[in-house]
Amino acid sequence: MHITLAYVASVNGKITKGDSPDVHVWSSTEDREHFDKLRDEHDVIVIDRKTYETVRPTPEAGKLRVVFTSTPERFKEVPGQLEFVNESPAGLVERLSKEGFKNVLLAGGARLSGSFLAAGLIDDIYVSIEPVLFGSGRPMITEPSLDISLQLQSLKQLNEKGTVLAYYKILKLKSR
Ligand SMILES: NC(=O)c1ccc[n+]([C@@H]2O[C@H](COP(=O)([O-])OP(=O)(O)OC[C@H]3O[C@@H](n4cnc5c(N)ncnc54)[C@H](OP(=O)(O)O)[C@@H]3O)[C@@H](O)[C@H]2O)c1
Repeated sequence: MHITLAYVASVNGKITKGDSPDVHVWSSTEDREHFDKLRDEHDVIVIDRKTYETVRPTPEAGKLRVVFTSTPERFKEVPGQLEFVNESPAGLVERLSKEGFKNVLLAGGARLSGSFLAAGLIDDIYVSIEPVLFGSGRPMITEPSLDISLQLQSLKQLNEKGTVLAYYKILKLKSR
């Protein structure tokens, strides 16, 4: 199972602008195009409940969306397309592997990304850095114990204003 984490951030590492959930207000068209391509390349998209409620993705055949929430019973599932779960990241990955899935795109918020990283489940990371600074907003990670080394694979400027797309591999993965 290959798991890729993707997110867009301000130069100072915020994934939201203040309390506003809509990242498209400040992220670039070029980042959106990059994300859409990644999404199309993956069989499974994993997000957190707040992101789900912001984006409200339309269920589609051939793509499984998994939403992490402590209250999955509040939501209506679409078999094979939309699931709400309250399980460990490792438990989810094991289940998806058994079901035959080969790749996962993780596009969640701070707690969810941190829990996958802390469990050693992420293989690589795409981060788009938008040329903005926010005094407040959600940080990319809230897991205090994280200490992970990355190796830069590529770095690309996406537009004139200077959105930068960096692609990293995770160097030290726990066994899985
Ligand atoms: N810039 C970006 O690339 C990017 C990417 C993703 C999201 N966002 C934005 O960031 C905001 C959400 O970020 P956030 O940092 O608040 O998200 P978060 O810390 O990951 O958590 C949001 C919610 O997801 C559920 N959740 C997360 N981890 C869970 C776990 N391990 N087990 C069970 N439930 C879990 C919980 O829902 P319940 O309260 O239902 O239990 C939690 O309240 C959204 O507004 C979204 O638009 C930005």
